[in-house]
This record gives sequence, C-alpha cells and structure tokens, in this order.
Amino acid sequence: MKISIIGTGYVGLVTGTCLAEVGNDVVCLDLDERKIGMLKQGQIPIYEPGLEDMVQRNQAAGRLRFTTDVAESAAHGVIQFVAVGTPPDEDGSADLQYVVAAARAIGQNMNEYKVIVDKSTVPVGTADRVRAAVQEELQKRGSKLDFSVVSNPEFLKEGAAVEDFMRPDRIVVGTDNAKATDLMRALYAPFQRNHERLIVMDIKSAELTKYAANAMLATRISFMNELANLAEILGADIEHVRHGIGSDPRIGYHFLYPGCGYGGSCFPKDVQALQRTARANGVELQVLKAVEDANDEQKHILLKKITQKFGSDLSGKRIALWGLAFKPNTDDMREAPSRVLIEGLWKMGATVSAYDPAAMEETHRIYGDDPRLKLVDSPAAALADADALAIVTEWKEFRAPDFGVIKSNLKTPVIFDGRNLYEPKMVREQGLEYFPIGRL
Ligand code: UDX
Repeated sequence: MKISIIGTGYVGLVTGTCLAEVGNDVVCLDLDERKIGMLKQGQIPIYEPGLEDMVQRNQAAGRLRFTTDVAESAAHGVIQFVAVGTPPDEDGSADLQYVVAAARAIGQNMNEYKVIVDKSTVPVGTADRVRAAVQEELQKRGSKLDFSVVSNPEFLKEGAAVEDFMRPDRIVVGTDNAKATDLMRALYAPFQRNHERLIVMDIKSAELTKYAANAMLATRISFMNELANLAEILGADIEHVRHGIGSDPRIGYHFLYPGCGYGGSCFPKDVQALQRTARANGVELQVLKAVEDANDEQKHILLKKITQKFGSDLSGKRIALWGLAFKPNTDDMREAPSRVLIEGLWKMGATVSAYDPAAMEETHRIYGDDPRLKLVDSPAAALADADALAIVTEWKEFRAPDFGVIKSNLKTPVIFDGRNLYEPKMVREQGLEYFPIGRL
C-alpha cells in the first residue's frame, strides 16, 4: 500500500519505518530540511534501539523515502498519517496549528480519495477540525474529491517503540466510514498476531482512549509513589506491598514501581490536556489534579532526602548523579525528574557531577557549560570528589555496581536511590547508608 507520513518526529519516523518494514511503499515528509537531509543518509535524529538499522534497510530496499516536498507526499499515499507535534501552548492545551496546517496541505494537494489519519495525540474533537480544514481547501480548489478522517492513536513507549509497533497489544482505530475501516484493517493485517488486535470504534472514543490510557497509567504511578512515602513513615516496605497487591490480577504487576516521579513527553502533557478538555466541558477531573500534584511533589523526593541528611545548606557539596534521561533506553530529558533535582541542588548551593549512558549531549544542550554541572563519561568518574550518590534513572548498567568503589570514592558513603535498584540490606552490609523510596 502507498503510505505518506507527515512529520518525522518520534511517532512519524517509527510508524513510517515499521510500515515500510512489512512491505508498504512509504514516503515521509518533514519541512525541516536538515532533518530530512540526515534521514536521507540513514541517520536518525533520535535515540531509539533498532530504529536506525531498520531505516537503512528499508531505504536500501526502496520502500522508505524522505522528502520536504508537500505535493509529492500528498499525492503519494492513499493513507496519509498526520504525525506532527502538538506542543502545549501557553495555557497548557495542545497546540493544533501543525495538525491543521498538515490537513490543509493535504487538501491543497490531494488528487484522489484519501484516508487522513490522526496519529498525533490530539484532543477529542480534533478529527472534526481536520475534516473542516481539508474540506475548506478542497472547496477553494472547486474540488469534489472524497476523503475520510480516522483517529489512530499511538501507544509507543520510548526505548521500546519498534517492538511496540511491530507487536502491538492493541491497535485503536476510530472511524465513521466503511471504506476507511477496510483500508485500515488491510494496513494493520501484518501486525495481527494470533488474536485480533484491531479495536474499531467511533472517532471521539478513539481520541479519548489515548488520554484515558496515559492518565490511568500516570494515576497508578502517583498512587504508588504516595503509598511508598506512607510506607516509609509507617515502617513498611513498599516492595512487599507491591508484590502483595500486584498478585491480584485486577491490579497486576505492571507499572507499579514507585520512584522519583514520572516524566517524558507524554504523561505530564496528556494528564494536563485531559484536565483542560474536561474543564472546557464543565467537568473537573479531581483525581487527575491530585495525580499531577503528587507527581510534582515526588520529583522533589530525592532533594528532600538529601537535605534531611545534609541540611538545607549544601554549599561546598558535590552530588554524583547516575542517570539523567526520564527513563532508561532513551536520551529524552523532557520533564525528567533529574532536572528538578539538579536545579534544586543548585539552589541549595551544591554542585553536580553526572553520568547517563545516552542523555549527555541532550543535557549539555539544556544546561550548556554551567560550571555547577560536570558531565562525565562513566559512573565511576561521577563519584570522584562527590559527597554522595543519587540515582535517578534505572539504566541496566547501574544495577550491579561495585559498592566497594562507591564507598571508597564518596566523602560520605551514602546512596539516595530514586529507583529502588538494590536490596537495602545488601547495600548496608557493605557499609553504605542507603535511602530508597518506601523501603525499610
Ligand atoms: C508512555 C506510554 O507508556 C505510551 O503508551 C504512550 O504512547 C506514551 O507515553 P513513555 O513516555 O515512553 O510512554 O514512557 P513509559 O515507559 O510509559 O514511562 C513513563 C514514566 O513513568 C517514566 O518517567 C517512568 O520512569 C515512569 N514509571 C513507569 C514509573 O515511575 N513507575 C513505573 O512503574 C512505570
């Protein structure tokens, strides 16, 4: 099938590449010439395991092309994916100018029936705006071409995006048109494994499903974080509690890990956007407001523990940081808890030496050459001259460190662990003080 993808950001690039991988003829459009230049040479602008190889392989096979030519991309695909950014505007709601511009570009250039698919995370009701924009452009041209609008939200996790796309647990398709439904079914047929993954529904329900999923997951995390903080005060161990409740299949074990707060490009943005949608319709989502507040507070948990140990004047102290990205297997620093910690430590007078396996460049882009932040190239180098160690991201390479080396390098042998990586008893037996989240 001929497919066009508008926007080669995270979602667009993964979608286009994976659709080419199963044999489709894919054209990816972006207005950023530098980005398209890189992609044409098989270089990908994001960090995502497995993606670069797949891009190169499909390019070589002639199934995946990149262009800045709007007319070419609008003419190419019978299915046109809109995967452009929807950054929050000043009041926190999703800014739809790029989505609408993409719809207009399709309307101006299309030459046959098209299925226009909203892949970006967009507020409920966006499909109507896309339809209106395309219609308006067709009218200007005096054209009577037919088209359908479909909502097909993505559920990719950064760091596992290729796997999530190739082996989805569900594919949500919101549609009001039989022809579009058939085309979407055919498109996703190669991704159906032994049972039906496609869930077809009306457009508004599909749009809401995306927000509902992320809001539900964020709620689980914030609730676990609050329980962990309570467990700490009560002298209970949240790891036992997690096992105890996760064994109930209605609760389940997934996404039940307390930590130093959720971040990333989706949860914080979507939790806010859903509240805005509700408010705009006269409804207050009380639970989500609490989820957001609890997360803002949780991002300060390591700083709180550090000042409980060292006092609130940290001048002259250096804290070693392991992990900067908002989660492992990505270099994404958006809404990362590490940023709240770094900036909080600075305010209290401390300096930071930090290591992350992927996010060093991104951190440098954000903080430049600030003398209060030393970016080093190994976990061991971060410990040199540091007073204490704080762990913010659960990268695999932090899971089995040499505690002897940590102890001998730190001025005060203490670990503040925002991801509960170690057995507390074992760390303490090695002569280190250990502050996990919600554990004894
Ligand atoms: C998320 C959704 O999972 C995905 O379906 C959607 O399409 C986009 O948003 P992503 O932002 O890549 O994906 O990250 P995810 O792995 O879901 O983690 C989100 C945040 O929750 C991270 O900061 C992570 O550290 C935190 N988290 C996750 C916890 O604190 N505890 C957990 O148990 C799980």
